[in-house]
Amino acid sequence: MQSTGPKKIKCAVFISGNGSNLKSLIQFSKKKDSPLSIELIISDNLNAKGLKFGKIFKISNKVFNYKNKSITEKKIISEMINKKIKLICLAGFMKILSINFIKSFKGKILNIHPSLLPKYKGLNTHERAISNNEKYSGCTVHFVNSRLDSGKIILQKKVKISKSDTVKSLAKKILIQEHKLYPKAIKKVFSL
Ligand code: GRF
Repeated sequence: MQSTGPKKIKCAVFISGNGSNLKSLIQFSKKKDSPLSIELIISDNLNAKGLKFGKIFKISNKVFNYKNKSITEKKIISEMINKKIKLICLAGFMKILSINFIKSFKGKILNIHPSLLPKYKGLNTHERAISNNEKYSGCTVHFVNSRLDSGKIILQKKVKISKSDTVKSLAKKILIQEHKLYPKAIKKVFSL
């Protein structure tokens, strides 16, 4: 993807929970060398803690209840069009996007996943890595395609699992790396 000079790429971040990756992306977007401008936060969860960052940084947010997935996705797509969104960053978004949705933003959706993909797709990654006695886990930023956690990998960061690590301590260590990796991967996508 090519960054269009000084004009920033309009981006929407999708969250369901704490939004610590959202926060790091917002902070990144405010840097001079960032290609991004975060215009919108989308959530499927009214109680997502991360929504507070919308208020703090004055970014508009929309919450969708997802009772009907296809209607909801149509509404989200029209929001994206209204706001001229050119990049979607999934950051702890717990809903699976439909093939149609993904097709309408082909090559423009990124996700961060807390494992060294292709290992441990899906949920409970840390639990599975620990119980399989893995020496390392980590995180991956990848393009989203129609198969879960299977799109082209942009960047990964390895994190050592120590003997004393619990799911909680490992999640914490990996999250610290996620916050650095996502901005780095975005810079790579836009060849900066
Ligand atoms: C992160 O571990 C991310 O990799 C995964 O969900 C978690 C979201 O954390 N997809 P946060 O909401 O960004 O704090």
